[in-house]
Amino acid sequence: MNNFWLKLKQPQRAIYALAPLAGITDSPFRQLCREHGADVVYSEMASVAALSHAPAKTLELLKATKKEAPYVVQLFGARPEQFARAARLISHNKTIKADGLDINFGCPVSKVMKQGAGAALFKDLTKARQVIEAVLANTDLPVSVKVRSRVGQVTVIDFLRAIKDLPIQAVMIHGRSLAQGFSGPVDAKIIKQARRYFAGVILANGGVKDIVSAKTLWQESAADGVGIGQGALGRPWIFQELKNKKTSRPDVKEIILKHAKLVEKYNGNFGEFRKHLCWYAAGLPNAKKLREQFIKVNSLGDVRKILNLKF
Ligand SMILES: Cc1cc2nc3c(=O)[nH]c(=O)nc-3n(C[C@H](O)[C@H](O)[C@H](O)COP(=O)(O)O)c2cc1C
Repeated sequence: MNNFWLKLKQPQRAIYALAPLAGITDSPFRQLCREHGADVVYSEMASVAALSHAPAKTLELLKATKKEAPYVVQLFGARPEQFARAARLISHNKTIKADGLDINFGCPVSKVMKQGAGAALFKDLTKARQVIEAVLANTDLPVSVKVRSRVGQVTVIDFLRAIKDLPIQAVMIHGRSLAQGFSGPVDAKIIKQARRYFAGVILANGGVKDIVSAKTLWQESAADGVGIGQGALGRPWIFQELKNKKTSRPDVKEIILKHAKLVEKYNGNFGEFRKHLCWYAAGLPNAKKLREQFIKVNSLGDVRKILNLKF
């Protein structure tokens, strides 16, 4: 097994990971984040049910370039046999180029939880174990899990205890309970306690948006690194800032243009790209006016025209 996690783990230096974000962490965005210092990037979560029945569309969504490596593909679902099939499919796929497989145990979306997937699977420790075993038995890639600090009565400590003997290489712990969703205080203490039950790479996740919040979470959790989700939206250079311990004044126009060119090359879906443009606008002067223009773009040409305006 080529376990890239071992190479990333260093005592004096935090690992900075782009956390999985459905509908957002696609190949162009992952490339930008890697270029701006992310040490590892996650895909959007991919359905093992979809991969089992009609995989073409999902496989297309997961394909990556070499520039994204190390690249972790995240799977969600509820049925061990579907996880097994998906793990085999992705591990051998040359256009996806996955360096690791991750399993989602934290998604709060009701459509996902109703299937017994995401955070619902976190609570069902027997099933969670079966799912992890199914993936481990069907891949040579390093396997990781993404969990929450707590779902109902079940804590991350209960979860890690239940899988203690399985060769999981990394865990990203979103330090918020299911009830909290995606905002509010992050429980760094429970992430620190998790170290007693897990020997691999631990990434603390939740609320990292700048140098201070990254340092605080890293130190208080004593984790090997941090995962960054919402803090990277419209700010893919955040990883470099955290590494340099210095805020930067990047040429945002240049980064937007680069992102737009990557989108053009990847799938030309500028409708999907509009949300990224609006996140970039948030940090720019005349944000409101810019946003009004950004939400209408349909092509690289449209983006260029707006960028040529003075703002
Ligand atoms: C829009 C959105 C989509 C998300 N999609 C996923 C996903 O596909 N898989 C996953 O494990 N977590 C997903 N998450 C959770 C994030 O990975 C992360 O755990 C959470 O946002 C907390 O980190 P942050 O405070 O840095 O954003 C998503 C969060 C948001 C806001």
